[in-house]
Amino acid sequence: MKANKEINKRRTFAIISHPDAGKTTLTEKLLLFGGAIQVAGAVKSNKIKKTATSDFMDIERQRGISVATSVMAFEYKGVYINLLDTPGHKDFSEDTYRTLSAVDSVILVIDCVNGVEEQTEKLMNVCRMRDTPVIIFINKLDREGRDPFDLLDELEEKLEIRVRPLSWPIEMGDRFKGVYKLYDHSINLFNANKQRIEQDVVSIDDLADDRLEEIIGKKDANQLREDVELIEGVYDEFDKEPYRAGKLAPVFFGSALNNFGVQEMLDNFIEIAPEPQGRMTDSRMVEPEEGKFSGFVFKIHANIDPRHRDRIAFLRVCSGEFERNKFYHHVRLEKRLRFSNPATFMAARKNIVETAYPGDVVGLYDSGNFKIGDTLTEGEKLQFIGIPSFSPEIFKLLVNQDPMKTKQLEKGIRQLTDEGVAQLFRQEQLGNQKIIGAVGELQFDVIRYRLEHEYKAACRFEPMNFYKACWLASEDEEALKAFVRRKAKNIAVDKEGRPVYLAQSAWMLQNEQTNYPDVKFHTTSEFKETVTNGY
Ligand code: G4P
Repeated sequence: MKANKEINKRRTFAIISHPDAGKTTLTEKLLLFGGAIQVAGAVKSNKIKKTATSDFMDIERQRGISVATSVMAFEYKGVYINLLDTPGHKDFSEDTYRTLSAVDSVILVIDCVNGVEEQTEKLMNVCRMRDTPVIIFINKLDREGRDPFDLLDELEEKLEIRVRPLSWPIEMGDRFKGVYKLYDHSINLFNANKQRIEQDVVSIDDLADDRLEEIIGKKDANQLREDVELIEGVYDEFDKEPYRAGKLAPVFFGSALNNFGVQEMLDNFIEIAPEPQGRMTDSRMVEPEEGKFSGFVFKIHANIDPRHRDRIAFLRVCSGEFERNKFYHHVRLEKRLRFSNPATFMAARKNIVETAYPGDVVGLYDSGNFKIGDTLTEGEKLQFIGIPSFSPEIFKLLVNQDPMKTKQLEKGIRQLTDEGVAQLFRQEQLGNQKIIGAVGELQFDVIRYRLEHEYKAACRFEPMNFYKACWLASEDEEALKAFVRRKAKNIAVDKEGRPVYLAQSAWMLQNEQTNYPDVKFHTTSEFKETVTNGY
């Protein structure tokens, strides 16, 4: 069957990292291998500066060009690879979390000097929620980094995943000589020449061979023999099954900037990374091989030009074939929609697509029908799950500055939160006041700027002393209602009308959890238990 062949050819993944570990550089090198870009620097220009001076104008500029890099599709050795872009700036981590719902695996970049960093842990927590398979690339071996064994221990401990090195560095920093590939017993010799793509590879069938000393010197040869003995003794053989179950991460060492170690990783990636996987819905599992089309929206990108209010909704195809101009069922709105200009993004060019297959991402022009998480099918009423909202970290009260423009403000804030720029909570018992929750300060600047420029509405924000939003649930509806009544000042509803407890501090939250054992507090909007959250 043609569809099955197409599915098996596809790999859909994202690169994630703590800012500065080398995600952009690695993306670029992968695209060079895939022939999707011809020159280094093409992706870099798309990046938001991470310095303290980075402001919302950078984001506005970025918005103009980032549609093209939202999905970077390229072909490599007959495999059709969809690389989904994730924003590097930590204020946009929620965007990254949502994008991770649309991939089947990830490559995690670690800086060998800094090891596991704050954002690395947060991203890994999201991967663990879905058991997403992870390949780890330890980057910047041309710098004086930490001991590789220590790095592996830290990965296991902080990321709560078993690791298995598949390549191993010979020295580091100025003395970096290359990597030994544990899976095919060959050495890639390091050459700091950034333009080179082909590498010096020497096969070493037996590490005891004297040739090893000739190639890397006696001291390093002995060290490598010792290291490899230890690795083979301590770590189990690499096994694809636990990797695919998200329990075991193969580790590669290299230097993205020097294009070193990247191709080995890519070659392994296409061998082991999973093809498009099934996705869970509120009623059943949807498998990619099913004949009927289904998909969900994980990202919405608004046009930067305020005269054109259209947006692009990015949809991951989950099953069947997506076809241009065919009517599909928008489950939430119970509406039939068809798309005359669906776009794919091959080699950084936008193309109108006639047919797309599971694993592919299609850009749909939208005039306001979509919000994040929306499902399209051929008629079946199902809703993909696994695209939860996460608790924001900063909360502010939205104050309307121009009562004549109340409608515009309402519409603007509804659309911006549909896009996922930030989350909106309403305190119904307190005069319906609106609270905006976001991960970073930048989002508030973005909202104010966009409300003013796109909706001609004016607002200001007043700081609020909340620390976390917790979605509430309980098996005892009365207990939940009583809690909600008692804590009115700290209760709000999210956009779907679900009750949320706004905690002032970790201590307060813990206190409530102790005092109200029947009420469950969740820091994401989706949770597994079957409970009522009737409000
Ligand atoms: P990010 O997207 O994860 O935030 O990281 P990015 O690729 O932008 O890399 C962050 C910095 O680390 C960049 O330097 C980049 O050149 C450098 N880098 C990436 N890979 C390597 C590597 O293998 N070795 C070394 N030594 N450096 C590496 P920058 O000075 O911030 O930016 P730029 O001026 O070079 O563009």
